[in-house]
Amino acid sequence: MEYVAIVPAAGSGRRMGASKNKLLLSIFGKPLFIYSLQVFEEDPLCKGIVLVVNEKDRREMEEALRLYRIKKVQALVRGGKERQHSVYEGLKAVKEASAVVIHDGARPFVERKQIEDLLSAVEKHEAAVLAVPVKDTVKRAEGGFILETLERSSLWMIQTPQAFTYPLILEAHRKAERDGFLGTDDASLVERMGKKVALVPGNYDNIKITTAEDLYFSEAIVKKRKL
Ligand code: CTP
Ligand code: MG
Repeated sequence: MEYVAIVPAAGSGRRMGASKNKLLLSIFGKPLFIYSLQVFEEDPLCKGIVLVVNEKDRREMEEALRLYRIKKVQALVRGGKERQHSVYEGLKAVKEASAVVIHDGARPFVERKQIEDLLSAVEKHEAAVLAVPVKDTVKRAEGGFILETLERSSLWMIQTPQAFTYPLILEAHRKAERDGFLGTDDASLVERMGKKVALVPGNYDNIKITTAEDLYFSEAIVKKRKL
């Protein structure tokens, strides 16, 4: 199934504590967001990339796109206040697509196979996300005391990419905006429309770069895969 990739990259990386957007930090000399784009650049089913950026990062990102020969970026769209707003701006910039794959610029290590698995699920179910089983015990707490222990066997950590038929995810974002709903991922906007979202088992090394120690894990993954 052909698709357009939407890559939100307009955050600030507050939790990383760097002096610039974490996506511009380099792993062995290559900016983080370039790793995240290369999988789409190399996938023949990806018909274009919409990259959502901060105005202050635009020039540096454009230069990196040229340097690393990322040619599929059809638009660099200005991001919004929260991730959800940035994705919505990206979705509105898509000219034509039957399916879209939404993928955080901060997840540099997703592989083609996982995108293929997601798209197969979208063909059947219209909406699908990558996920891995939770390894730790998860509890709900308040005021420093535990309220309850959740049943681990039904808990999943949700990653990006998340893939959808284009009309469905556009409608889900429109509705969320109308209702003033803010979710932490795109699937949650589809879930609240009462629509089922398929879980596609992913890999534990599809990590999101959030805090400084994630850069060490990144170096290990790059070395192992010889990226
Ligand atoms: N993002 C975005 N627009 C925003 C906020 C985030 O496009 N207003 C993007 C980030 O660039 C990142 C992805 O959404 O690729 C996931 O967000 P996160 O990991 O939280 O990155 P930041 O928001 O930049 O980091 P932090 O929350 O620590 O500030
Ligand atoms: Mg954030």
